[in-house]
Amino acid sequence: MQQIWVIGASSGIGLSVAQAYADQGHNVLVSARNEQKLNDICDKNDHLHAVPLDATDAASIQQAQQKVKTITGHLDKVIINAGTAEYVDLLPVDVDLVRRVFEINFFGAINMINASLPFLYDAVTGGQKPQLVIVSSSVSYQALTRAHAYGASKAAIRYFTECLKADVQHQGIDVRVVSPGFVKTPLTDKNDFEMPFVITSEDAAKRIVKGLDGSRFDIHFPKRFTLLLKLFSFLPHRLKFWLLGKMSRFEPQGENS
Ligand SMILES: NC(=O)c1ccc[n+]([C@@H]2O[C@H](COP(=O)([O-])OP(=O)(O)OC[C@H]3O[C@@H](n4cnc5c(N)ncnc54)[C@H](OP(=O)(O)O)[C@@H]3O)[C@@H](O)[C@H]2O)c1
Repeated sequence: MQQIWVIGASSGIGLSVAQAYADQGHNVLVSARNEQKLNDICDKNDHLHAVPLDATDAASIQQAQQKVKTITGHLDKVIINAGTAEYVDLLPVDVDLVRRVFEINFFGAINMINASLPFLYDAVTGGQKPQLVIVSSSVSYQALTRAHAYGASKAAIRYFTECLKADVQHQGIDVRVVSPGFVKTPLTDKNDFEMPFVITSEDAAKRIVKGLDGSRFDIHFPKRFTLLLKLFSFLPHRLKFWLLGKMSRFEPQGENS
């Protein structure tokens, strides 16, 4: 039985992943800000344990670390999945919007990497090869219209994760990145555009669990979407930006408009 911590587990992909591991009999610590939601989820399953926290708040993270210590001495797997999405529709760009998105998707993820590393090192000391998993997005393969804040935050955390892997792989920590395409969750229920090849969060969870059992660094899915996006990213710039321009909703703006 593994000790697993899923951060961002009160809904969507994180909840489905936590439930999938609990169904396999593992001990799963579930974190998010909404304590009531976490308690409701954990009341229904003895393998799930609520560890409420705000990944952007140092004091709350410290409290959560103490709670983790009361449940387990080490962690075999940490999945850092908490995130948000906001799109940019107007120029000049709203810097506060960009900061809000980076605060959780980039800085929040780094806070949680720092908070979980001591538990992962304890697993290494105990002879295990623990996994540290960061949920990025397939949007990080290719810049898309309106994704200035969200896509940049996910590209930044992918880059950070690759640096981290380079530095901790020799220490026995198996760092992975997850790059989903569109998954139906409360986050994407807000989207006002068609989502190609959208899958359910249960399907996403199955692919993540399978991917983490395998050896690939980047777990991306569904392949029919992620491979198309990768292919698109290799197009010549002139063609690529012409196509992207066709998708843009931005109106031309002049001095007097
Ligand atoms: N759905 C997609 O199509 C898709 C595609 C690519 C990547 N992703 C990524 O997958 C991850 C999960 O997304 P989802 O679609 O499953 O969205 P979701 O259902 O909205 O889940 C987001 C989770 O993060 C938690 N969270 C948000 N802010 C937090 C904070 N400050 N501290 C702690 N927890 C926080 C939320 O709980 P609380 O609100 O209770 O804190 C919730 O449990 C995100 O990183 C997202 O960017 C999603």
